[in-house]
Amino acid sequence: MPNPCYGREWELNHLHCILNYALDNSAFKIVYLQGMTGAGKSRLLATFASQLASAGKRCLAFSYTAPNDSSAPTFSIPCFIKALMSVTELASSRDIRLKIDLIANNVLCALRLRQRLDSNLNRGETDTLSMLSESRLKWLDKQIAQSLIAYANHKGVVAIIIDDAHNLPTNALEFIRLFTSCNTPHAVTFIIASQQKHAFIYPPKWLDHAHIIILRPLDPDAMAQLATHILRCQGKEPQKHREQTADAIKRAQGNPYFLKQLLSDSDPLNALPNALQQFARTCLNAMPCEVARTLKFAASLGQSFNTHQLQQFNDNEQIRAPLCVLHKMLCSGLIKQSDEHFYFIHPLIQEALKSQTKSTDFSWYTYPRHHQPDRRPNKVTSN
Ligand SMILES: Nc1ncnc2c1ncn2[C@@H]1O[C@H](COP(=O)(O)OP(=O)(O)O)[C@@H](O)[C@H]1O
Ligand SMILES: [Mg+2]
Repeated sequence: MPNPCYGREWELNHLHCILNYALDNSAFKIVYLQGMTGAGKSRLLATFASQLASAGKRCLAFSYTAPNDSSAPTFSIPCFIKALMSVTELASSRDIRLKIDLIANNVLCALRLRQRLDSNLNRGETDTLSMLSESRLKWLDKQIAQSLIAYANHKGVVAIIIDDAHNLPTNALEFIRLFTSCNTPHAVTFIIASQQKHAFIYPPKWLDHAHIIILRPLDPDAMAQLATHILRCQGKEPQKHREQTADAIKRAQGNPYFLKQLLSDSDPLNALPNALQQFARTCLNAMPCEVARTLKFAASLGQSFNTHQLQQFNDNEQIRAPLCVLHKMLCSGLIKQSDEHFYFIHPLIQEALKSQTKSTDFSWYTYPRHHQPDRRPNKVTSN
């Protein structure tokens, strides 16, 4: 069965409008697409790219995680440059050199482009580049970005997609950033998609002039369509699983990935799918111990928590650099902040993290009386 994209008509229409504006006005447009894990960014972008392909328009797409249902190649600076230059991975170094000379504005730009492509430079060439100041190199990089966009557009590219930008290493992000500051009169739409994590906890300053699309939860009709599709793919008759479906739609709260997990799990209703437990384990294992423990404590409190509760935890566990821990928690993309309060980005994320705690883990904690005067102190609940 082909991969459907339910309930994203508004977003697709918006992307096409921006692209058409860029085409009609020879304008370079930037779009920033933001959404939590599993919200459907990659699906939306893959659908957009295939619609462009059907209309005979060229699009270059890259991602920075192992592709699941997106076929986008993994981003690397050389691979990205080669795609913009329309040279294949199999091209000989002589052909690449000829292309570089065609695209670059001057000898220095050509040299810098070869360096960016990890080409072998001779001693003299390396020395020439090492003598340039940081600002001069930056200027060259900007020239290169402009020339590459111009060339790609000349070759019919109208859209460039970078998915999972939150996972990109700093040097790759710096490189992408050069493109977003291009002021070129070329009809290209540059789309950057990310979760709210790492360098993207807040929309970065360098994307100030981008069109921002925040992916909203899928509406119940689209979720119902997706549920039917998922069950059919599993060879199940949707009519016979009405109760499970209704429950899964409610718990997934508009997140298609979570809906898939809930419907794919054979465990009874209310159980937490194995994939989500695994997701929580992987996230926690990848974090410094203090950060993982603070997140588990927060999850054991419920869907939201506040600075006072965190402070109690920090005091009790003698956390050495609490602000740093808090920053790393925000960088994880699993929680969001609103004033003094923090909340998990999705109830199932909180459930999944809580499933990784033991009942004895935070038994020292009792609910602070002065925060909820009418409530009796209660112990943290845990699985
Ligand atoms: N609008 C949609 N219609 C149908 N399936 C969807 C939709 N959005 C997402 N999915 C499916 O849900 C899963 C998670 O979506 P994905 O695009 O990978 O999320 P993200 O990239 O935001 O993490 C994928 O299997 C995807 O095919
Ligand atoms: Mg994705």
